[in-house]
Amino acid sequence: MKQLASYPFSRPRRNRQAPYIRNLTQENWVTANDLVYPVFILEGERREEPILSMPGQSRLSIDMLLRLVEKAQMLGLQGIALFPVIEAGKDNLASESYNSDGLVPRAIRAIKAQFPKIGVFSDVALDPYTLHGQDGIMDEQGYVLNDVTNEVLVKQALCHALAGADFVCPSDMMDGRIGLIRAALEQNNLHNVGIMAYSAKYASKFYGPFRDAIGSSANLGNADKFSYQMHPANGNEALREVALDIAEGADIVMVKPGLPYLDILYRVKQEFKMPTAVYHVSGEYAMLKAAAQNDWLDYEATLLETMLSFKRAGADIIWTYAAFDVINILRKY
Ligand code: PBG
Repeated sequence: MKQLASYPFSRPRRNRQAPYIRNLTQENWVTANDLVYPVFILEGERREEPILSMPGQSRLSIDMLLRLVEKAQMLGLQGIALFPVIEAGKDNLASESYNSDGLVPRAIRAIKAQFPKIGVFSDVALDPYTLHGQDGIMDEQGYVLNDVTNEVLVKQALCHALAGADFVCPSDMMDGRIGLIRAALEQNNLHNVGIMAYSAKYASKFYGPFRDAIGSSANLGNADKFSYQMHPANGNEALREVALDIAEGADIVMVKPGLPYLDILYRVKQEFKMPTAVYHVSGEYAMLKAAAQNDWLDYEATLLETMLSFKRAGADIIWTYAAFDVINILRKY
């Protein structure tokens, strides 16, 4: 075989021959400082309901949530993202979503009272609160109305911010909601409450286990979210979405899901240089767990490899249900 002119002077394997040199030349790392843990909460006390399609994850009542947050803080996790399971009080106007005595505001207040340092990220979207499981208010034809939905999202974001949320995180994909929420926060002197915008959120089937977890899948039935979430085939459109959210005042932008959209994550980071988050979603987590339970994959190694792929593509922040696992793995090495 004809050799390249540089052979044998260039031998990339020199830098791979031993741990010290592999460590010194490693380009990306994942640490506890990168991680946010999404958790499902419900009413009651001492409740811990395992989620079948997300092995290792449970829906927790607020008292149990506080124990978990204590552990998270001890391990160095940076943030907790809250997702409610609304068992009573759903309607088609999502009026429970901005009840200041609702589950989410109470959970936020409880966390902030005991663990003020950990970041609290609250989900702004209506799907846990609507009978039909869509993220907005519908008209008679079943179309999710944009501006009417925005009015409710603003109330919900304010309600969470007043309860003490550090970041409100609109995951609904309505047009113009970031600007409206930013304006409302400013008008209410909530200048330091941040917005993490789910800017490039795709209409993905990888959300299946999440919808089981919050109990919206049965309500959704065969319906989909293609009239507001992005089509999986589109890339340039994601950049336009991100540009809009930044112009409207987003502090952090998010790409979601993670692994199937690494190209989007990379492009968003390259183009905007914004603090960028990625959501390793429920279905991605479930795939790893399921394969590991069958001994088809090494869970720890494939999980770490997944996290590194997010860092390599440009993520600053990773939302993952495996956050505790990642930290435990890192501690071993
Ligand atoms: C809805 C919402 C979803 C997720 C986070 N917020 C599901 C959806 O859009 O139907 C999915 C997260 C996951 O799958 O882990 N507002």
